[in-house]
Amino acid sequence: MITALRGMKDIIDDAPKYQRILNTAIDCAKRYGFSLIETPILEETALFKRSVGESSDIIGKESYQFIDKGGLDVSLRPEGTAGVVRAFIEKKLDRSNATHRFFYHGAMFRYERPQKGRHRTFHQFGVESFGEKSVYEDAAIIALARDIFDSLDIAYNLEINSLGCPNCMPSYKNKLVRFLENHSTDLCDDCKRRKDTNPIRALDCKNEACQKIYQNAPLIADYFCGECKSDFETLQTILAHNGIKFAHNKKLVRGLDYYNKTAFEFVSKDIGTQSAIAGGGRYDKLVEQLGGKPTFAVGFALGVERIYDLVDSPKEGREKEGREGVYIGAIDPSAIDDVFQYATRLRKKIKTFVEYEPKKLAAHLKNADRLNAKICAVIGEDERKSGAIWIKNLESGAESKPQLNEWLKAITND
Ligand code: HAM
Repeated sequence: MITALRGMKDIIDDAPKYQRILNTAIDCAKRYGFSLIETPILEETALFKRSVGESSDIIGKESYQFIDKGGLDVSLRPEGTAGVVRAFIEKKLDRSNATHRFFYHGAMFRYERPQKGRHRTFHQFGVESFGEKSVYEDAAIIALARDIFDSLDIAYNLEINSLGCPNCMPSYKNKLVRFLENHSTDLCDDCKRRKDTNPIRALDCKNEACQKIYQNAPLIADYFCGECKSDFETLQTILAHNGIKFAHNKKLVRGLDYYNKTAFEFVSKDIGTQSAIAGGGRYDKLVEQLGGKPTFAVGFALGVERIYDLVDSPKEGREKEGREGVYIGAIDPSAIDDVFQYATRLRKKIKTFVEYEPKKLAAHLKNADRLNAKICAVIGEDERKSGAIWIKNLESGAESKPQLNEWLKAITND
């Protein structure tokens, strides 16, 4: 038997949750003025190297990279931002001087060590906003993520930080590198490497001994330039004015290299060690870095699988709301073709289940009940002769035998 690859899961049992999460996120994003963008799952490897960063684990260790049949170095996307930025530039939207807001969803690929909440293919819902310098846009993006989690009844903690800008980050980085060099012998191997490749990421190390050392590490918050300091203060004020609770995590850094200024993560206490349910921030340099005109940008993505355990299945909700739709079947084999035609008419207006096999009335009622249909409609020999249909409303228990055409007209409003 061929099974799915390690760390890759089919969406079958969780499909109702998956759909509920996506529909909720899409509804919320549309209210904030975002519209759909879809980009290819496969891109040139260079795109991810130049955006997410070669020194990041996501690219350095975890990419699904191969040479295609034409000899091109390609990778499955590990995240959505890079592809959206590539499309944004390719479509010359960077030259429009307008604001563009996109949402997307789909499969991402990271060759990580699989564990609960960490898969090799997983799904993100993300948004990217281009062209807005105002820190109100950062707040709007955070409010949108908050709205999605609130709509899904998910409890979270929001952590924010600022990663500074090209004015203040380089001098801070030098101080951090000096600090790491002074403690070099006591650092884990990963942090020794990060010291040379991506020093900021060291602050995020999960090693306890390293974290002890970093208690005294210099932090970017103490080295902000005037603009970064004032923007970060303004962001905190806006969040507070809008009832969005947050904590300033001075060691929050992101696993992708393209961020500047605002960085944030939504974390859940209820799902174990892989606790980040969404993450994002500002990336004002990325469009330029990928060959476009300088464009302000901010966005976030949430991990759909990460929140499965935190949301109710919509089925539970539906049962509370009651039954839905029509179930239609026949007792006599010769009526099956008619039944299928009626179902096709009904389906233009109403959810309809159709049974292709002739069955006794009791079996049809059982099927309709199992499918949570509101109406069970059955055509037997008597009904066929008299042009009628037998109906039972499974909510009220009421039975009737209306004329078929009138009933179809009434139910489809034709
Ligand atoms: P990220 O923090 O790498 O950010 O991923 C966003 C979310 O995807 C995480 O918070 C987590 O919920 C989920 N996730 C990540 N890796 C896995 C995995 N292996 N298995 C299951 N879920 C996972 C980004 O990807 C950025 N592109 C977000 C962004 C958009 N920043 C600006 N715009």
